[in-house]
Amino acid sequence: MQKCCLITGASSGLGRALALQYAAAGWQVLAIARSGERLQQLSQQSPWIRCLVLDLTDGAAVEASVSQIKQLMPRLDLLILNAGTCEYVDVADFELAAFDRTFAVNFFSVVAAVKYWMPLLHESTRPQLAVVSSLAWLFPFTKAQAYGASKAALSYFTDSLRLDLTGQGVEVCLIEPGFVDTPLTRKNDFAMPFILPVEQAAARMIRAIDAGKLRYRFPKRLAFSLALLNLVPYRWRQKMAAGMRSE
Ligand SMILES: NC(=O)c1ccc[n+]([C@@H]2O[C@H](COP(=O)([O-])OP(=O)(O)OC[C@H]3O[C@@H](n4cnc5c(N)ncnc54)[C@H](OP(=O)(O)O)[C@@H]3O)[C@@H](O)[C@H]2O)c1
Repeated sequence: MQKCCLITGASSGLGRALALQYAAAGWQVLAIARSGERLQQLSQQSPWIRCLVLDLTDGAAVEASVSQIKQLMPRLDLLILNAGTCEYVDVADFELAAFDRTFAVNFFSVVAAVKYWMPLLHESTRPQLAVVSSLAWLFPFTKAQAYGASKAALSYFTDSLRLDLTGQGVEVCLIEPGFVDTPLTRKNDFAMPFILPVEQAAARMIRAIDAGKLRYRFPKRLAFSLALLNLVPYRWRQKMAAGMRSE
């Protein structure tokens, strides 16, 4: 039986690469994002890709999408909540709306998707939920107060969710990537160690989900370096973080 997955943030970057790779592997894919044009282009790449235009920050629209999803997909085996945004903020003049926008996409949209879409997984023989967070929250990066905090919240949410889903048969995979070459990182003006091409990153994520990993941090060299930095005295760690600022 053909497997089916839903991928948010599939109009660009990691989500797009995941959609193409799952479709190439014979999965039926429902690609979700706001940009209808880019989704349309994506769906032309494979007969297995369908698309749904949706603003994930609109909770009512996410709830209403359940019936559309049921029409577009025979069932759901894998839900990949990948959509995200990164806005850098200026500490001298905090724009509160930037925090609202970032948390709306990176955190609250995931909570809404879990609430409304998780029940769709229940008919699958191997129901899986994958949540795309980031390694960014492990280390204080400059101007990343909104992004890093939203991903810290998301990682906590996912680990905690997994606990309460124990016994319900749903596998929960928390994915924390390092730097990947996508439109999201192309605006960065700082060094991005161990940055990966997007196709390679997507392939690694697919292997981790398939292997049933609880948490997948990659690339290992960056994850390991950040873990080591967490072991050094706090004051030194703060100095190292300050040394990475671009100004
Ligand atoms: N690239 C990296 O180095 C990196 C590292 C760690 C974690 N991540 C995480 O990986 C995920 C994918 O990032 P990416 O690098 O592939 O970024 P990207 O190329 O900018 O893609 C982001 C995707 O999210 C969608 N999106 C944003 N806001 C949305 C909304 N309100 N409703 C629906 N869809 C929305 C965008 O589509 P539309 O604009 O068409 O809506 C787009 O498809 C994000 O969660 C990001 O935080 C990325």
